[in-house]
Amino acid sequence: MDLLTSPRELSQYHGCAFVPTMGALHEGHLSLISEAKQSGKPVVVSIFVNPEQFAPDEDLEKYPRNLMQDVQFAESVGADIVFAPSMKTMYPNEPEHIKLPPSATEPQLEDACRPSHFKGVCVAVARLFDLVKPSITVFGLKDYQQYLVIKELIKQEHSRWPNLEIIGADIIRDADGLAMSSRNIFLSNEEHAAALAIQHAIQCQNENDMKRILAEQNLMIEYAVIRDAQTLLAPTAKKEQRALVAVKVGTTRLIDNARVAK
Ligand code: PAJ
Repeated sequence: MDLLTSPRELSQYHGCAFVPTMGALHEGHLSLISEAKQSGKPVVVSIFVNPEQFAPDEDLEKYPRNLMQDVQFAESVGADIVFAPSMKTMYPNEPEHIKLPPSATEPQLEDACRPSHFKGVCVAVARLFDLVKPSITVFGLKDYQQYLVIKELIKQEHSRWPNLEIIGADIIRDADGLAMSSRNIFLSNEEHAAALAIQHAIQCQNENDMKRILAEQNLMIEYAVIRDAQTLLAPTAKKEQRALVAVKVGTTRLIDNARVAK
């Protein structure tokens, strides 16, 4: 399998199934690659730690990086190439002034906690779509709001990436139920144990119970809500709902979500 850093050789992969990542690959990422593989198309995985989506006080510097191991992992589940672009390839000029989809212009949840985060995500993803020209892209439902924002971006920019289909892949968890994340390595044993409350909270049918369960473990709640699964606005009885949580465990920020069973 090849590791490409320049977009020149990408042309033979146009129409591929594409999995964008920031590396430090774990089983969650690998499940996305396996899902992409199911399409029967060549699979391209990108690895780029995107400074544009980190706020100045966030963990860009200490974000885990392990390119050679990532390449091996990606290959082990059938990726055809790993594309690891340089900053210069990603942002040869100033990052694009991207028009955000409406859901990301009304700040809520991730957007309210991390202003300009989705702007940074969309700029990078749009650039990657332009370079890779995939026909399928797979995003994890772990970052549920990100999935919705990218889905809308693809719809909004239909003429730019015609026929691009997005697939939302299920959340992969550790054996103890904690959603896998590149940031889990920052958790101490005690913090990991406390974070297990998150998976119980997102199974609740109401926000009070969610908040109580998280507070019992002294997790710092950024939000713990039940929302309409499509709009992320206040839920309505008839429509599908999603429970979404963001907490800080010590200095580590974790997010998780689940479909609300009716
Ligand atoms: P990253 O955090 O590396 O995640 C890459 C993809 O893996 C995302 O679609 C994310 O939802 C998915 N993922 C992470 N953990 C998962 C889990 N436990 N189960 C299932 N899927 C999981 O998300 C980003 O990178 C960046 O914002 C990016 C889209 C690459 C743009 O820079």
